[in-house]
Amino acid sequence: MDLGLKGRNAAVTGSSQGIGYAIAMALAAEGCNIAFSARGKDRLGKAVADAQAKGVKAVGVECDLATGAGCKKFVDEAVAGLGSLDILVNNVGGMLPGTLDSISDEQWGGFLNTSLMSYLWTTKYAIPHLRKSPAGRVLNVSGVTGTQLLPGALTTTISNTAIIGFTKQMAAALAADRITVNNICPGFTNTEGWGPRAEAMAKVRNVTADEVRKGIAAQTLLGRWAEPDEIGAVAAFLVSRQNAYMTGTTVEVCGGFTKYI
Ligand SMILES: NC(=O)c1ccc[n+]([C@@H]2O[C@H](COP(=O)([O-])OP(=O)(O)OC[C@H]3O[C@@H](n4cnc5c(N)ncnc54)[C@H](OP(=O)(O)O)[C@@H]3O)[C@@H](O)[C@H]2O)c1
Repeated sequence: MDLGLKGRNAAVTGSSQGIGYAIAMALAAEGCNIAFSARGKDRLGKAVADAQAKGVKAVGVECDLATGAGCKKFVDEAVAGLGSLDILVNNVGGMLPGTLDSISDEQWGGFLNTSLMSYLWTTKYAIPHLRKSPAGRVLNVSGVTGTQLLPGALTTTISNTAIIGFTKQMAAALAADRITVNNICPGFTNTEGWGPRAEAMAKVRNVTADEVRKGIAAQTLLGRWAEPDEIGAVAAFLVSRQNAYMTGTTVEVCGGFTKYI
């Protein structure tokens, strides 16, 4: 199936590694031009080169997406580098372990600004450009703690449930502009970011990082973690012209982790 992504322009937040990188590269493989973003210069440069090697135009924007100014810089430089914008993927985020007692106000600010407010800020700055596209697309990336209770996962439950609500609100607000807004909800995915996370969880539970990973895999129907490119493949369809009649929808790609009917 031709996804109709050739020659379109996409901006992906937090895309020098992990799920953001995999989504960007799945789009690049379909001929879509990409604006990458991250704080770290080296991995960002490599991501840009990887996309260019697929024959598409690619730019890298060094920015801190935990600030409104950083999000504006990303959108401005993405549009300046690519010429216009058809697709925005809000992906940046992470996990902050801890409880209501242990997490400081400053840590909450940093976490929520990166994992939630950046979605609002980047979308706000992208909307005027997406309105000019014949088929504007916004795809948000949430996570399974937004659809199934995982006791202890306090920070991501808050950001992921809010991302689902934000997706619905934006789908309604942008429908008249023919911009669709959907949400992809990955399950546990084998990204670079999980190295330190698994170690931290292992310490708290007094087990090994390998045991943490195996315990998570056992909770899925497929008995394993996702690979980032398995998320990227679904994301590419979701932002494609072939996916024209879906908006406000959350699509889970979680190997059967969630169990509700
Ligand atoms: N991995 C999973 O199991 C999983 C499951 C469900 C949902 N998710 C969601 O998927 C998204 C990506 O997760 P991931 O595991 O792929 O993350 P990751 O491996 O930690 O990668 C994060 C990316 O975002 C960039 N980044 C982080 N903070 C930034 C900031 N303040 N400004 C600009 N760039 C920033 C990082 O580059 P720099 O550090 O250089 O800035 C990197 O490119 C997150 O929203 C996460 O909640 C992940």
